[in-house]
Amino acid sequence: MEADSKKIPNTFGIDVTAAKLLEYDSEEEFQKLSAAGYITMPYLHVGGGSNLLFIGNYKGTILHSRIKGIEVLMENEEAVSVRVGAGVVWDDFVAYCVAHHWYGAENLSSIPGEVGASAVQNIGAYGVEVKDLITSVETLNIQGEKRVYPVDECGYAYRKSIFKQPDMKSVFVTYVNFRLSKKEHYKLDYGAIRQELVKYPQVDLNAVRQVIMDIRESKLPDPKVQGNAGSFFMNPIVPRALFETLRQEYPDMPHYNVDSHHVKIPAGWMIDRCGWKGKALGRAAVHDKQALVLVNLGGATGMDIVALSDAVRASVRERFGIDLHPEVNLIDNG
Ligand code: EPU
Repeated sequence: MEADSKKIPNTFGIDVTAAKLLEYDSEEEFQKLSAAGYITMPYLHVGGGSNLLFIGNYKGTILHSRIKGIEVLMENEEAVSVRVGAGVVWDDFVAYCVAHHWYGAENLSSIPGEVGASAVQNIGAYGVEVKDLITSVETLNIQGEKRVYPVDECGYAYRKSIFKQPDMKSVFVTYVNFRLSKKEHYKLDYGAIRQELVKYPQVDLNAVRQVIMDIRESKLPDPKVQGNAGSFFMNPIVPRALFETLRQEYPDMPHYNVDSHHVKIPAGWMIDRCGWKGKALGRAAVHDKQALVLVNLGGATGMDIVALSDAVRASVRERFGIDLHPEVNLIDNG
């Protein structure tokens, strides 16, 4: 149905409207909207708006799924398979898993956005990517036709999936199927997780979730307080030869080996090294605790954020010879 407000939800807190905003609660409702010709071109499907930057008002139709529900499809001693609606808030799903003693999602606590978008973006944090938990992704296309993509057909890589490709613009996630483990196991090797867990009497799912939430809170701004979309840039994956050259000049450069020829370098570290941390340009700023995040200081437009992003990219290119690419999707008018 058509939403009352035409304001597009976005965690950057940018004031933007759509010509039409359509929300649907079920696959059937979407199919009816499609058949009745309500979805006019151009259109864009959004999740919670936590990874989008609108450059201006959207001249077309914004679509948003409100499909809810967490349904257990199979459960045995080892694992559980669950089907989750695209419109379920991602962190509500993580909390549900933790409450049911299902292992695997806890490191992805507190990530803003919805379940549908998690599968599009392949969200990741603290050594876990959502693709590790997904078994298949259910979709509808703009004509209302269903198709299920098994995980190995989703093209998952670092912050990447086929659902982000321009030729898949007319395919929308309706449900995501996950497999969680019922056997106790944790991933605690990233950053300060282990160190922080010492404060808890025992290692369990609740403690790990709390530690992740605390680490995120100490570094990442709360979008309700200061508009942002999490990491603005992806961490660049560069040829090993370039990394070795840079390492001579910057021996403390953090890095992760991707394969024998490629290395991932944290963009936040490079932006920080360029002196941008905490610096503002107009109504946009580089967050003072995590340089990978750009924030809206209040009243920023999409163009203000882009101007800051361009300035940051130019500095990193000049100093390190590396091009940064936004992780956030820039939406230009429709
Ligand atoms: N660093 C700095 N200065 C900064 C920021 C980072 O020196 O201002 C250094 C850190 O000290 C550390 C390294 O850079 O050595 C990496 O930093 P961090 O562990 O904070 O992670 P990140 O690579 O900056 C990625 C994800 C985050 C995710 C964290 C934790 C991307 C684009 N971002 O950030 O995801 O929470 O790892 O796993 O991959 C998001 O996508 O919105 C997001 C927040």
